[in-house]
Order: sequence, then structure tokens, then C-alpha cells
Amino acid sequence: MTAPNAGREAFATRAGFILAAAGSAVGLGNMWRFSYQASEGGGAAFVLLYIAMTLLLGIPLMLAEFGIGRRGQRAPIGSLRLLAGRGWGRLGYVFVAAGLLILAYYSVIAGWTLRYALEAALHGFDRSAAEHFGEISSGGDAVAFHLGFMALTVLIVVAGVKGGIERGSLLMMPVLFLIVIGLAVWATTLPGAGAGYAVYLMPQFEELMNPAVWRAAVAQAFFSLSLGMGGMLTFASYLHRDQNLPESATVVAYTDFGVAFIAGLVVFPVIYSLGLQGAVGASTVGALFIALPGAFEAMGAAGRVVGLFFFIALALGALTSAISLLEVVTASVMEEMHVSRRRAAVVTGAAIAALGVLPALDTDTLGLMDKIAGEFLLVAGALALAILAGWRLTGEVREELLAGAAPFWQRQVPRILFVLRWIVPPVVAVVLAFSLRETVATVADYFAG
Ligand code: PHE
Repeated sequence: MTAPNAGREAFATRAGFILAAAGSAVGLGNMWRFSYQASEGGGAAFVLLYIAMTLLLGIPLMLAEFGIGRRGQRAPIGSLRLLAGRGWGRLGYVFVAAGLLILAYYSVIAGWTLRYALEAALHGFDRSAAEHFGEISSGGDAVAFHLGFMALTVLIVVAGVKGGIERGSLLMMPVLFLIVIGLAVWATTLPGAGAGYAVYLMPQFEELMNPAVWRAAVAQAFFSLSLGMGGMLTFASYLHRDQNLPESATVVAYTDFGVAFIAGLVVFPVIYSLGLQGAVGASTVGALFIALPGAFEAMGAAGRVVGLFFFIALALGALTSAISLLEVVTASVMEEMHVSRRRAAVVTGAAIAALGVLPALDTDTLGLMDKIAGEFLLVAGALALAILAGWRLTGEVREELLAGAAPFWQRQVPRILFVLRWIVPPVVAVVLAFSLRETVATVADYFAG
């Protein structure tokens, strides 16, 4: 029994859905946020925990979103209200708020990547990378590139699920994969690359005893997989019942981790072969945007070409992620206020663009928004979704996960539901408590300093 929603937009191909979901997952989170979380939280130990959390919590939660979305055939507010009642429907508003807040600052960072790509193409990177980043990361230029990036995002979302999101992902994702793999192969040729690989791949296990590292790894897994704000739910609401959901979620999660991991195989050798590791710790938000351009510049002409490709790949990843953030907000406005896609996308896009001026003027505000929306709201949303799928809508989610799944994947469904019921809620509840404490401290810091 699927709730009928005649005339709803849909993905045209199975690969289209998978690439769109992977496009949502793969983004700045894999490179910018991953590198700064890893440098704050214990290097390779963080990476290991992050993989474990992706498999243990991430895939089941993605399936909770897929199941609920395909069942409800509506954006988060509508799907939750339809399937679980008015009270749960309100959770949808939290998702919309999270999407809106995240996109507002995400687009600012995406703007930095566009800017660096342009610089590489026109005249190469600046010699004093740290100073240069200070100049371009906030202020008029940052606002301008942020607005440009938002305009691109709106254009794609206006074009619809099939003509915009699906087509865009089918075009952009393969290019991104090729670039990232090409760069990793190139990085093996760098003198001194070995030192970078060593730092990246050799964990310091004592870090595993630190609860803050756990909190960061779980939160980063949710951010990177786009979980906890209804993005995957919304995409799955454009599916028919022939899509194999467990297989799709597994492919998306491995792709996301694969790109993050391969990106590390580029970033670490580049930075270490030039002895620029000091710059990574110097600025949490800017690690990637200071050390790397500095390294590319030091490599001369070759660095310019490689840097151009690197920042193009980042910008493509950011764009396919931004689309999914905007789609949650746009689809919700379309359904709740009965307006056209074009109108909803333009109005919500403009509102987010306006909100994004704040983080574009001040990187502390950007960091604060990332803490509140990119971490706390996602962890809270993930907890609610796990409880919903594991306890309240178990039958519905089970049916959805079975429908369209091959026998091997059908056999995994009871395990997935068990994890959603007994493992995800307690683990995420503990993480939420730590995250709340962290977030409150960050907010206090922000207003004190
Ligand atoms: N997953 C995206 C990234 O890693 C960011 C994102 C978060 C997108 C939440 C949608 C929802 O860059």
C-alpha cells in the first residue's frame, strides 16, 4: 500500500537516483569538513572510527530515510505527517530549518572553491596563501561568489527532478570521480609523498578513548552522508518500488567513503611533500583552503593545472550536495504552500542566499552555523528518524526495504531493522548529549568573544 500521489515527479533511471544520492553525500564534507575534523580529532584514529560509524549507523539510517520517503511519496513534512501523524510532521519543519541553515553557509564555502578554480585558471594561486585566504574568505568577494553559487543551485533545482537533479548528477559525478582518481595517481609521483601517507594511514589508538573523537566521527558520518535532515528521504520520495533500497544505500555509503578516502590520498602527500603541514592545524575552517593552494603554488605550472582540477572537483561535489539541500526546502514549500517548483525554488533560494550573507561576512558565524545545523540538528534529526523507523513505522519500512530488493538484500533487512531499533537510538542519544554540551559551549564562546 503506497500512498497515491499521482503526477509526482520521479527519477527516470536507477543509476540516476544512486548518482543523485551519491552526489548529495559527496561534497565539501568529504574534503573540507573531513580534513578539519580529522585534524582536530586524532588523525587516522578518527578515520577508522568514521568508517565504522558509516557502516554501523550510516547505512541503516540512510535506509530509514529511503524507506520513509518512498513510502510517503512526499517531502519530509508531508511524508512524516501522512505516515506518523501531525506531531511527527512537525519534525519535518526542523529538517527544513536544518537544510536552510546548512545551505546558507555551505554555499559560502562552495563560493571559495569557485573562486580558487577561477584563480587557478586565470593567474595561478597567491603566494601568501594564509593571508590571501583571510582576504577572500569573508567580505564582499565571499558574498559575491556565494551568490553566484546559489544562483547555479537554484537553476538546477528549477529544472526539476529528472531534468535538473538527475541529469546534473549523471553529468557531474563521473567527472568528479575521474578527477579525484587522476589526482591520487598523480600524487604518488611526488617526492616525499610517503611521509604524508604515513601520517594519514597510521592511527594513534589512544585517541579512541576520547569521547570527543567519537562525537566528531558520528557527526561527521551523518554530515557526509547527508543524513538527519530529510535529504535522502526527499530523493527517495521520487522513486518507484522497483529500486533496490538496501543495495542503493550501500553503494552510496561506499562511494562517499571512497571519495573521502581517495581525497585524503591526494591532500596528505601534497601537503607533506612540500612541508606545509603546519598550515593544516593553523585554521580549522581554512585548512584545505590554505595549505593546498600554497602547495599548488609552490609546484609552479604543474601545480596550477592540478589545482584547477582539484577545485573544479570540489565545486562539482559542492553543487550536487547543495542541490539536495535546496530540494528539501523547495519541495516542502511546493507541497505545503501549493506553489510551482520554479516559484518555490527561486523564493527559497533567495531567502537562503540572503541568510548566507552573514557567514560570508564572518567566518566565526560560519563555524557557529556549522556547529548548530551541520552537527547538532543532524544528530538530533538522525535520532528521531531511527526511533521512527525502528519503533513506530517498522512494518512500513520493512515492506519498503523488501520491495525491489534482490534476495541477498532481503536477507539483510531484519538485521537492518534490528540495528535501527536497538543500536542506533542509544548510541546516537549519547552522541547527542555530548554534542549538545559542545554546541552550548560553542554558542557561549561565540557571544563572549
Ligand atoms: N553530504 C554533504 C557533504 O558531505 C553535505 C550535506 C549535508 C548535504 C546534509 C545534504 C545534507 O558535503
